Amino acid sequence: MNLKLAFLWPKVMEYFVFITICFSLTPKKAYQDAPEAWQMGFQDPATPVMQGIIDLHHDISFFMLVILVFVIWMLSRTLYHFREGNNPVPEKILHGTTIEIAWTIAPSLILVFIAIPSFALLYSMDEVVDPAVTVKAIGHQWYWSYEYSDYNQSDEESVAFDSYMIPEDDLSVGQLRLLDVDNRVVVPANLHIRLIITSADVLHSWAVPSLGIKCDAVPGRLNQVSMFIKRQGVFYGQCSELCGANHGFMPIVVEAVSLQDYVAWVANKLEEA
Ligand code: CUA
Repeated sequence: MNLKLAFLWPKVMEYFVFITICFSLTPKKAYQDAPEAWQMGFQDPATPVMQGIIDLHHDISFFMLVILVFVIWMLSRTLYHFREGNNPVPEKILHGTTIEIAWTIAPSLILVFIAIPSFALLYSMDEVVDPAVTVKAIGHQWYWSYEYSDYNQSDEESVAFDSYMIPEDDLSVGQLRLLDVDNRVVVPANLHIRLIITSADVLHSWAVPSLGIKCDAVPGRLNQVSMFIKRQGVFYGQCSELCGANHGFMPIVVEAVSLQDYVAWVANKLEEA
C-alpha cells in the first residue's frame, strides 16, 4: 500500500462508520410502497403474506450463506492440498461409502428445512378467509378495469371503472412517472379482501410488490387471491406478464383507506352510477 493510501484509509473507514451510524439512528419516516432508484431489497410489506415472503427469503439466504462458505472452504482446501507440487502421484480412490452417505443425507436434510417454512407460507397464501369485500380486476391491452359487484342492485355493474396510467405530460407534482393512474383501486385496510383476476384479451398479471401479490390475468379464467392490508397507504404495482406494446404502461395503484373512508367512496361511486 502506498503512503498516501495508508494515510487516507482510516479517514475512509471513519467516513463509512459515520454514515452507518447516521443511517441506523435516522428514524424511518415513511413506508416504501413504490420502487425507488437503485433499490436492492424488497419494498416494505403491507400484508402478512409479504411479511412471510420476506422472512422466507431471509431464512433461505441463511442456508445459502452457510453452503457458500462451506463450498468455498472445501474448494480452496482441495486446490491447496491436491495441487501437483504437493501431490505429484494422484490417489486412485474411487469410492468412500461414509462420505457418500454424508453428502447425500446432508443436502436432503437442508432441503427439508427449507421446505417446511416454504410449504407453510404457500398454504397460508392459498387460504381465502371469509372476505368482506370482493374486487374484480380485468386486464386489457393496455389498462386495468375494476368491478365491485358487492353493491350491485341489478345485473348492471354499479361500481366499475377503468384505470389508466397518467401520461408523462399530464403528471402533476408528486405523482410517480409510469406508476400513477387516473382511478385507483380503493379498498379498506384491516379487512379481508378477495381479488378476482381475469383478462379481456391476452395474458396480463396483476402484481403489487408491497402486498405480496402477483397473479396472472388469463382470458376465460378467474384467478383468486386474498389480501389483508395491515396499514393505510398507496401501493404501486405493474402488469407483470408481457402483454404487448404498452405492457410497461398499465400500472396498478391500490389505495388502502379506513372503513369509513371506504364506505364514503363506495357511496360516492354508487351516486355517480
Ligand atoms: Cu398487461 Cu403486461
